[in-house]
Amino acid sequence: MDRPIFLVGFMGSGKTTWGKKLASALEVPFIDMDHLIVEKIGMSIPEYFKAHGEDAFRELEQAVMKEQEGRAGIISTGGGTPCFFDNMDWLLDHGTVLYLNHSAKSLWKRLSQSDVNKRPALKGFTGEQLLAFIEEKLQERAPYYNRAHIHVDQINTSLAELLNIVK
Ligand code: S3P
Repeated sequence: MDRPIFLVGFMGSGKTTWGKKLASALEVPFIDMDHLIVEKIGMSIPEYFKAHGEDAFRELEQAVMKEQEGRAGIISTGGGTPCFFDNMDWLLDHGTVLYLNHSAKSLWKRLSQSDVNKRPALKGFTGEQLLAFIEEKLQERAPYYNRAHIHVDQINTSLAELLNIVK
């Protein structure tokens, strides 16, 4: 593998979980961009949003993305990464971009079971308000995600199928 596979998709779409599974099956490194950002800033992403705001986070996120040039492996991006600046052009130029596609309802179910406070982009919404927010955000972000080289329907795709797709 000489170019990375970038996993893109909404928060809660399984980028980290599938990234780890794919990387271990393909015997390549797994890189989590959110994790790299946290290491760099020495605080959690919610803390960083609070202290410096989202704009500063997006700058940092782009810088960390560009540091991945030439790395091989499976790279999980943040849910917003492809949707700011010309990041999606960059991702498409520097690797294979795989979109983990879910409906808003499926994301809602998955995110409702997670700690929404760990994801400042969800603005603390829960219940029906969270669903409405996801629907709106997904509509806004879908044009970026949809440019991915490969689209995977997460509901119906097994690891074996995913491996076949990326090999
Ligand atoms: C964000 C998603 C998060 C993280 C940050 C912002 C977003 O990553 O980068 O909290 O705007 O969708 P995950 O998709 O891994 O939760």
